[in-house]
Amino acid sequence: MKPTLLKLKDLHTDYGPIEALKGISLEVREGEIVALIGANGAGKSTALMTISGALAPRHGRIEFLNENIAGLPAHEIVGKGISHVPEGRRIFPRLTVRENLEMGAFLRRDRREFESDLAATFERFPILKERQAQLGGTLSGGEQQMLAIGRALMARPKLLLMDEPSLGLAPIVVSKIFEIIREINRLGKTILLVEQNARAALSLAHRGYVMETGRIIMDDEAKALLLNPRVREAYLGEA
Ligand SMILES: Nc1ncnc2c1ncn2[C@@H]1O[C@H](COP(=O)(O)OP(=O)(O)OP(=O)(O)O)[C@@H](O)[C@H]1O
Ligand SMILES: [Mg+2]
Repeated sequence: MKPTLLKLKDLHTDYGPIEALKGISLEVREGEIVALIGANGAGKSTALMTISGALAPRHGRIEFLNENIAGLPAHEIVGKGISHVPEGRRIFPRLTVRENLEMGAFLRRDRREFESDLAATFERFPILKERQAQLGGTLSGGEQQMLAIGRALMARPKLLLMDEPSLGLAPIVVSKIFEIIREINRLGKTILLVEQNARAALSLAHRGYVMETGRIIMDDEAKALLLNPRVREAYLGEA
């Protein structure tokens, strides 16, 4: 079995009086795509934001490569090798495509490495190369998602956190984005993928966790979850 990259232990995160995470534990092993699925408000985004340091947990551990990173500031967590592709993309609309990608690499000083990573990003996303001088805000939703993914990869992460990459995109663009995710994983990146599109996420993932109101209620091989009657009824729209 591959070594564990990320391990959450009894993680609690609050928004003031609201307990959004009520003690979640999960792990992601090297090379995996792990899907985190669940209804609106289950706490999926909160989980990713807590891992990436956008939110501080009230309690619990976040072990990354056997080090507890819970509560570290976000830029230190990026430096340790975790990049977050947030819900709603959050690209910088008034910066150019190229500047957006530069922001992803802001922690790195080496110019040559930067240029070669930029070239690799443009090779993976030719549309971003074409549009490199255009403002981020003028891109289509799918292109913005590619930019958000490209920007996250510019930090050379070991672990990629992706929050609803398919949200609001046309079906044909959704399949393209999922293809890109599969390819990124095939080339060696470990991915924790949050999706409301549970069928697509579980079809792509190796394993999955199901969240309900701040707790993990199920976890299994992705194939098994796709066949699980409870999952099928609640999350795959089957009676
Ligand atoms: N900034 C906030 N302030 C207060 N409560 C919040 C805030 N953000 C989220 N919450 C609450 O925390 C809970 C978890 O929200 P979260 O956004 O993590 O869910 P989610 O699973 O990502 O949902 P969605 O599928 O809609 O993206 C919800 O009850 C939500 O209302
Ligand atoms: Mg969310």
